[in-house]
Amino acid sequence: MEAGRVTGPDGFVLLPGYFDRAAQESLLAEVLAAIEAAPLYQPVMPRTGQPLSVKMTNMGSLGWISDRKGYRYEPIHPVTGKPWPAMPKALTDLWDAFGHWPDRPEACLVNYYGPEARMGLHIDADEDILDAPVISVSLGDRARFRLGGPERSSPTRSMVLSSGDVVVLGGASRRFYHGVDRIYPGTSTLLPEHLHPGRINLTLRRVRAVAQ
Ligand code: SIN
Ligand code: FE2
Repeated sequence: MEAGRVTGPDGFVLLPGYFDRAAQESLLAEVLAAIEAAPLYQPVMPRTGQPLSVKMTNMGSLGWISDRKGYRYEPIHPVTGKPWPAMPKALTDLWDAFGHWPDRPEACLVNYYGPEARMGLHIDADEDILDAPVISVSLGDRARFRLGGPERSSPTRSMVLSSGDVVVLGGASRRFYHGVDRIYPGTSTLLPEHLHPGRINLTLRRVRAVAQ
């Protein structure tokens, strides 16, 4: 499990294959159940209303959403109007192991990438606190992930994320630009037929400084 671990000088950690196949399957089963209750929907960009290329849903007491009004956290699904499903224990366990933060994350954003989806360089900045790490899990097809620095113009490096890999944006890297250039369709057999080829990324975030 620790083989191939990549750590950056800036608090960035990549744990390749942290979840083995059996653990990926059981986590995926919980995520698929959450998607049944809180379907993936097509978010749009603030102001322009341009659709994002990823589809989204959330788990936890808060979910990240993007619509014409802006980016923010909401306790309910924008389409169903229902609370987000609970976060799987495997994810709170992951946070307890690597979060090094006293409070658990309220939000787990579920991003679904179809074969053509990507995510432009951005900083996760909609949280009240930007000190708690962001932890993410990849499931399904591989992706080329790009990590930059604090400025949009900072040099970037890219790495391939595979199913079961965990990324921790901690320390300074919490405020670094990052994105997904592309996925590699058909490089994993994990996802069910209706989501294959494709990739799911689960992003855990602590949003509020104290529970509200
Ligand atoms: C994100 O930055 O929100 C997603 C990263 C990923 O898909 O690996
Ligand atoms: Fe992000």
